[in-house]
Amino acid sequence: MKPSERLSRIPPYLFAELERKIAAKQAAGVDVISLGIGDPDRPTPALIVEAMREAVTEPETHRYPSNRGRSDFRDAIGDFYARRFDVQLDPASEVMPAIGAKEAIFNLNLAFLDPGDAALASDPGYPVYSAGPLLAGADPVPLALLPELGFVPDLDAIAPADLKRAKLIYLNYPNNPTGALAPEGFFERVVAFAREHEILVVHDLSYSEIAYDGHRPGSFLATPGAKEVGIEVFSLSKGYNMTGWRCAAVVGNSEAIETYWRLKTNIDSGLFEAVQLAGIAALSPEADAEVASMNELYRIRRDLVCDALAKAGVHVTPPKGTIYVWAPIPAGFESSVAYCEHVLERTAVVISPGSAYGPSGEGWFRISLTTPDDRLAEAVARLASLA
Ligand SMILES: Cc1ncc(COP(=O)(O)O)c(C=O)c1O
Repeated sequence: MKPSERLSRIPPYLFAELERKIAAKQAAGVDVISLGIGDPDRPTPALIVEAMREAVTEPETHRYPSNRGRSDFRDAIGDFYARRFDVQLDPASEVMPAIGAKEAIFNLNLAFLDPGDAALASDPGYPVYSAGPLLAGADPVPLALLPELGFVPDLDAIAPADLKRAKLIYLNYPNNPTGALAPEGFFERVVAFAREHEILVVHDLSYSEIAYDGHRPGSFLATPGAKEVGIEVFSLSKGYNMTGWRCAAVVGNSEAIETYWRLKTNIDSGLFEAVQLAGIAALSPEADAEVASMNELYRIRRDLVCDALAKAGVHVTPPKGTIYVWAPIPAGFESSVAYCEHVLERTAVVISPGSAYGPSGEGWFRISLTTPDDRLAEAVARLASLA
């Protein structure tokens, strides 16, 4: 059975050896702790679960949902954007439910790219920014996020030939994996860039609700002119501990939203209405306290991890947002995979090699803060002993 050419465009999996070593350790009875995956360990807040419990008893939620979503869900997204980001959205034309940000990001490639087109993809970045264009028959062009610029790309350095082919640009702040927030003035620059080169901006706002030290990340759509050139993907997965629920929305430019809808009607049958009703509960002001307490939990974990890394001789800048610590590998290791293998060997702690997130991630590693406190304390003690 020969897989499609399309599928064969996805590069081979680079971390097979690391995973083999993890599996071998586990098989030998070693207590391996994974700090690799960004999946919140705490349960979804009770008020959201309760809303779901009620919603699933309503037979009206059991049928095919409309791809456009319930009007009360679209209204809730609009109200949240107004309350949280000071962005006004027309729920009828500027909001579309998505079955998670991943679905939206992948399908946007099918909606906007043809073979020969390119998508400018944040590097390091969420892997779907490059796998999506490849599966759509187009080409991802890595857009290096530069530490010296606060982990934003130098838009002036993009090759003219790539700019000519580019139809989409994927940006993401708060940023996975670097933990950076968008620096002052960056979104304004992006709007001008997108206008000049007629490129649709896709801003991934999956981590808007997780930030530290008084930071309140904003929406790209709050930038003057942003709605003319862009859309935003907003997800409830990380901020509300709802990764399994698949609840998100694409918001912003109405023409782009209509195109996304047209594609979706051919691919999926919408977002389970009970999940939409639970999403409404999540977006209500009553859930704000839950988000605040999760942020405090992650802040404590962030500080624990950064202290341990400093003890292990790793230079680390504490992230301003997201659930990740991003740090350079210490001198003397030939690659981020080699460093992660060394850490696994010495401590039985799994950390992610930066190269998993794109070529510019080489030389870095990522630690996720979503491990339960007792396990994280144990992992941190082991990491500190690395020195
Ligand atoms: C930057 C980014 N975007 C999107 C997603 C996927 O979010 P969702 O669960 O809504 O599909 C992730 C998940 O890790 C992510 O890190």
